[in-house]
Amino acid sequence: MAGSGGGVVSGGRQRGPPLFATEKPGRMAMAAYRVSAATVFAGVLLIWLYRATHLPPGGGDGVRRWAWLGMLAAELWFGFYWVLTLSVRWCPVYRRTFKDRLAQSYSEDELPSVDIFVCTADPTAEPPMLVISTVLSVMAYDYLPEKLNIYLSDDAGSVLTFYALCEASEFAKHWIPFCKKYKVEPRSPAAYFAKVASPPDGCGPKEWFTMKELYKDMTDRVNSVVNSGRIPEVPRCHSKGFSQWNENFTSSDHPSIVQILIDSNKQKAVDIDGNALPTLVYMAREKKPQKQHHFKAGSLNALIRVSSVISNSPIIMNVDCDMYSNNSESIRDALCFFLDEEQGQDIGFVQYPQNFENAVHNDIYGHPINVVNELDHPCLDGWGGMCYYGTGCFHRREALCGRIYSQEYKEDWTRVAGRTEDANELEEMGRSLVTCTYEHNTIWGIEKGVRYGCPLEDVTTGLQIQCRGWRSVYYNPKRKGFLGMTPTSLGQILVLYKRWTEGFLQISLSRYSPFLLGHGKIKLGLQMGYSVCGLWAVNSFPTLYYVTIPSLCFLNGISLFPESHCNVVTVQWSGGMHRGCGSLEGSPHTSWQPSTHSAEYWASESGFNLTVKVTDLQALERYKKGMMEFGSFSAMFVILTTVALLNLACMVLGISRVLLQEGPGGLETLFLQAVLCVLIVVINSPVYEALFLRRDKGSLPASVARVSICFVLPLCILSICK
Ligand SMILES: *[C@@H]1O[C@H](CO)[C@@H](O)[C@H](O)[C@H]1NC(C)=O
Repeated sequence: MAGSGGGVVSGGRQRGPPLFATEKPGRMAMAAYRVSAATVFAGVLLIWLYRATHLPPGGGDGVRRWAWLGMLAAELWFGFYWVLTLSVRWCPVYRRTFKDRLAQSYSEDELPSVDIFVCTADPTAEPPMLVISTVLSVMAYDYLPEKLNIYLSDDAGSVLTFYALCEASEFAKHWIPFCKKYKVEPRSPAAYFAKVASPPDGCGPKEWFTMKELYKDMTDRVNSVVNSGRIPEVPRCHSKGFSQWNENFTSSDHPSIVQILIDSNKQKAVDIDGNALPTLVYMAREKKPQKQHHFKAGSLNALIRVSSVISNSPIIMNVDCDMYSNNSESIRDALCFFLDEEQGQDIGFVQYPQNFENAVHNDIYGHPINVVNELDHPCLDGWGGMCYYGTGCFHRREALCGRIYSQEYKEDWTRVAGRTEDANELEEMGRSLVTCTYEHNTIWGIEKGVRYGCPLEDVTTGLQIQCRGWRSVYYNPKRKGFLGMTPTSLGQILVLYKRWTEGFLQISLSRYSPFLLGHGKIKLGLQMGYSVCGLWAVNSFPTLYYVTIPSLCFLNGISLFPESHCNVVTVQWSGGMHRGCGSLEGSPHTSWQPSTHSAEYWASESGFNLTVKVTDLQALERYKKGMMEFGSFSAMFVILTTVALLNLACMVLGISRVLLQEGPGGLETLFLQAVLCVLIVVINSPVYEALFLRRDKGSLPASVARVSICFVLPLCILSICK
């Protein structure tokens, strides 16, 4: 629990009560967890022992010996990975904040200003309306507008996005006072009007209707401009910014643009009630063909520099353009961590979980994110180092900019940019900071800002911050701070997982590995925690082995498990496997995942790289009904289908063979393999359904089935004709 420090004077300031508390699971719950972990561990040891001592002799039984050794290797890996996961899950912590105490300890004037970065990269995949809904949701945070600065980085340099942002800056003048007056939640207008059908308390129907109409008009205007691709001659929102787009301007070749759309220092930057508005800035970095621009990492670093001349807030929050704020108090929650006088000094960043609004209740894809959010991340936090994953995160600017933590350092929370009042001059300065050549021969991307040239820049950046002595915190309130959209088709989900697992594996194998980079700097438990993610991808190999070889051996009458009546260990084992798989899949219910998981790592796909955010409506309907969405040809689906068909064939042929040749008694030595085979078939039922029964667009294409049959058929024929 948080220490109490009432009344201690430090640095001339009365030290208040702690602003956040850290809670651990009850002692009974932990004891139960540890006992169950210990028994399963004992089971794992027995299995290893059994495998090692019952190795079939070489010679005539060569195939069985090799298959057996493969099983041993797979089980050794599963066991190892399971122990790793288990150790990391030893000490989860949960955080709670006290916003009321924050309000008592700090007046509004004493609170730090906050810079919010929103990144977008492609007006097609990320429609401008989606982007500005996110921007509006963060502009409407419950925070002093003078201390709130929103920056949008548009890596496509799209005039359509700029137009939409101009519209948003006008709409904000109505939307923000409306939100604050009626305590509207959530504050993304798109999410709000989609969810809420009647006026909030205290708001008359007329006012509500007007607001709704305003929003609808803006949406129509923006969408019609986006659809036609042309900006009207006289845009409704006047901005001199439009003149910067000329006919030579393309998304990969253009000068830098920094445009302050709302300048909170200006008299006229007020909403309809005359209250100040947060600063709003549009930025597009200079782009030249053949010049390295480092994608999102480059974008974030450019934003760090531009914001340093305009607002230079000590706190930076960044969020992806498809994740809106679902809680207008998130800034205050985050500040409870940074501003706690006793425990907040060394906190480098506060990460919120990624949550998905459209994840259906009956989670058909077994989204690991839920287990990761509820279990793995609290454990990383327990080791003092939640990882940074690129969105929904509050950083201390100093930590992000490379400062090494020292006890002497005291943050001046109320510092402001010593800036000029002239917006033109600021924009000019900003533009010069985001040219293609600015970063040459500087430590940007190496020691400063988000790291370049490494797998999963976000995660590596977070790790580097931790290696400089900063702690990080994971804050997962009941009511989620940020909501995004998850892809709804299996293909997209697999691409997403593949990117993550591949990236994490690359980190583990590179010089950014937590064991190398973090050696002597972060706790061993934390290094292992990173490795749980880092080695996730490796599981696909033993998993693939486990879902193919035992079934093939069953078909051939080669026994790989102890006989059913003689061993209790196996019961343990299946329990252990189940839990093992659960953890290695990051999901408590294994469902049919083992095979998908292998698919995701075995296939390498090139044409499938951008996660599409606009899904077609029919597909969405199917998704809501709990149907898996396959649809297109993909090497990953071939693997899935092959595993499914192979096991189906092995089950049918294998059982008939045994019954015909040996009678029911013959099943005894192969009993567990038969069970495994049947289980895999059951788990794969959605695949058979998509192959044989469904006729909708989301079913498995015939081409996938044909390729899979080419794999399965020879294997079966070989076995039968032997
Ligand atoms: C999002 O916020 C609303 C309140 O506006 C709340 O009712 C809802 O539960 C939140 N969603 C999640 C997933 O926490």
